[in-house]
Amino acid sequence: MTTLSLKNAIKITVIALSLFSVFWINPLESTRANETGQDPQTPSKAVTNDQFAGSEACRDCHGEMFEKISKTPHIKVLSVVSRLSGSEGCESCHGPGREHVDGGGDITRIIRFKDEPAKELSQTCMQCHTGREEHNNFLRGEHGRNDVGCMDCHSVHSADLSRPKMLAKPEPQLCFGCHVERKGDFQMPFHHRVIEGAIKCSDCHNSHGGFERKQLRAFNSSDAACIKCHIDKQGPFVYEHAPLKVEGCTMCHIPHGANNPKLLKRDQVSQLCIECHSGVGTVGGLNTPSFHNLATAKYQNCTVCHVRIHGSNASSAFFR
Ligand code: HEC
Ligand code: HEC
Ligand code: HEC
Ligand code: HEC
Ligand code: HEC
Ligand code: HEC
Ligand code: HEC
Ligand code: HEC
Ligand code: HEC
Ligand code: HEC
Repeated sequence: MTTLSLKNAIKITVIALSLFSVFWINPLESTRANETGQDPQTPSKAVTNDQFAGSEACRDCHGEMFEKISKTPHIKVLSVVSRLSGSEGCESCHGPGREHVDGGGDITRIIRFKDEPAKELSQTCMQCHTGREEHNNFLRGEHGRNDVGCMDCHSVHSADLSRPKMLAKPEPQLCFGCHVERKGDFQMPFHHRVIEGAIKCSDCHNSHGGFERKQLRAFNSSDAACIKCHIDKQGPFVYEHAPLKVEGCTMCHIPHGANNPKLLKRDQVSQLCIECHSGVGTVGGLNTPSFHNLATAKYQNCTVCHVRIHGSNASSAFFR
């Protein structure tokens, strides 16, 4: 095998691997790298070291900006240690600035991000912020696909420094800024107290996409988002109530807010149960026994007797 064909073989393998691990490798990045003829696995900078001026040079003219960023977690990007390991400080986002500096601040010689499409700007950030489950699927998430970029939610220079995670606005205002139609959900008579500040949208959703439907936070099952706080509903129970394990919490509950107590989907508990326990429902539960006289008030409130409706260790009929 000649060196050339070996190179090609490696290239083909790399492409095959990229396709194979399509969830883990950023498509735009590999396209970009391929266009410049670089190996997509080793994104090396197409610029030489002397095109960088170093953050100390930026500080000379943009001192205030330097001080500000030093008060954010991105101080790590400016630090000497991080520069030794390959970060270029200010220039890791703004690109090489030597010509900008030599030109006395020529703004045509520096990346300004003005009018830069969200997806491209996000690529700049993802140079460093991939490789964690949390961010890996960003571009394929609902936000990434719909041109919502990192800077729609974060601010790297002008953030209120006391705000966690450099958010452009605090939650939930940040989210309501675009999802105003969801606000009503949390004003229903029964609701998770998101507006009141007791819990956050991001307790249940991963704004960075994730791998679940509706960008929910979950790693193993559709219930992980709920189980985090309602740990007593997790089980395993000796006697499981099948729909919890199969369909998940949202089979019976409306997660944001509802007109019904306990965030239930139906205003009468019996209605909810007989959807599955009447023998005509689509989801096969056992028939409600005939001695249950549903015309009487006694039997309408099913959970008065079947109290452990999320599962029980003592009773197959969930009595205790
Ligand atoms: C010799 C002084 C000087 C140095 C050194 C310098 N700049 Fe500038 N920079 C300027 C001036 C002047 C402007 C244009 C004034 C303005 O619009 O704020 C500017 C503008 C910019 C802009 C665009 C601002 C905008 O309005 O969009 C960015 C980004 C920027 N500089 C980044 C850097 C970075 C990164 C470095 C270090 C590599 C650096 N500058 C070093 C003087 C300097
Ligand atoms: C983490 C990436 C990142 C780093 C690091 C970074 N910037 Fe920026 N910078 C941006 C982005 C994105 C924008 C445009 C959006 C904005 O204004 O926040 C910007 C905007 C600017 C602007 C123009 C906007 C303004 O408010 O005047 C200047 C000047 C600037 N940066 C200078 C610097 C300097 C100097 C440093 C180093 C001390 C630096 N930046 C480090 C990402 C970064
Ligand atoms: C729709 C809004 C939104 C977008 C878009 C967004 N973020 Fe976030 N990000 C958040 C929120 C809210 C938090 C804090 C809560 C959390 O961790 O989910 C956060 C947290 C973070 C954290 C801290 C994570 C941690 O584990 O402490 C990093 C880093 C981050 N975002 C980077 C990014 C990058 C990079 C992008 C673009 C690729 C981005 N974000 C896009 C809303 C957003
Ligand atoms: C050169 C690498 C690099 C780039 C590029 C970069 N970051 Fe970061 N970012 C870091 C490091 C390092 C930290 C600190 C992480 C830590 O402390 O664990 C950080 C932290 C953060 C945090 C978390 C703040 C917190 O409170 O935990 C957010 C949000 C964030 N970056 C957003 C962005 C955004 C938005 C961009 C693009 C405009 C960006 N980053 C570009 C290296 C980078
Ligand atoms: C800059 C505007 C913007 C901001 C800010 C924003 N979103 Fe979104 N979000 C969108 C767009 C656009 C979509 C995709 C279209 C849609 O479903 O509305 C979306 C989709 C979603 C989805 C998926 C909906 C589905 O049907 O799959 C969830 C969940 C979500 N956003 C939650 C959040 C949360 C939580 C926050 C705050 C941390 C937030 N968003 C902030 C614009 C935004
Ligand atoms: C208690 C957990 C929880 C909290 C808190 C939460 N969500 Fe959701 N959200 C969910 C679940 C679960 C779904 C999926 C519902 C379903 O199965 O259709 C969802 C769906 C959505 C959707 C898609 C709506 C649709 O019609 O399909 C959007 C957008 C959304 N949430 C935004 C938000 C925003 C914005 C906040 C904060 C203001 C928020 N969520 C807080 C659990 C939560
Ligand atoms: C971050 C923690 C947290 C997460 C995640 C969470 N909840 Fe809750 N939930 C609470 C708290 C706290 C309450 C107490 C009621 C309140 O806030 O007023 C509650 C109350 C409830 C209630 C009872 C309301 C009542 O009237 O007694 C139901 C039902 C519920 N949650 C279902 C869910 C479901 C389903 C999910 C997943 C989609 C979920 N929760 C995710 C914190 C959480
Ligand atoms: C088969 C329907 C069903 C499913 C699925 C279901 N629940 Fe419930 N849940 C109920 C009913 C009915 C009540 C009201 C019980 C009562 O009134 O005594 C309730 C009440 C609750 C309550 C408030 C009372 C309490 O016991 O703390 C919470 C919290 C709750 N459920 C969380 C969850 C979570 C989390 C999941 C998913 C793991 C889930 N539920 C799945 C039917 C269901
Ligand atoms: C989404 C469909 C669904 C809903 C809603 C539902 N169930 Fe079930 N339930 C099932 C399935 C499926 C089984 C398992 C049946 C089997 O083992 O064959 C089950 C099992 C049971 C059992 C145990 C029967 C036994 O002896 O093994 C009881 C009791 C029960 N459900 C009561 C209720 C009550 C009360 C409600 C309303 C709060 C309810 N269920 C809501 C689907 C549902
Ligand atoms: C007054 C108490 C009480 C109420 C209220 C009640 N049940 Fe029952 N339920 C029972 C008893 C007792 C059994 C028989 C348990 C056994 O066989 O071990 C039973 C059994 C069941 C079974 C299991 C049948 C089987 O073959 O194993 C289902 C399903 C069921 N009930 C559904 C419901 C539904 C739906 C409601 C509300 C419409 C309801 N129950 C209300 C007492 C009650």
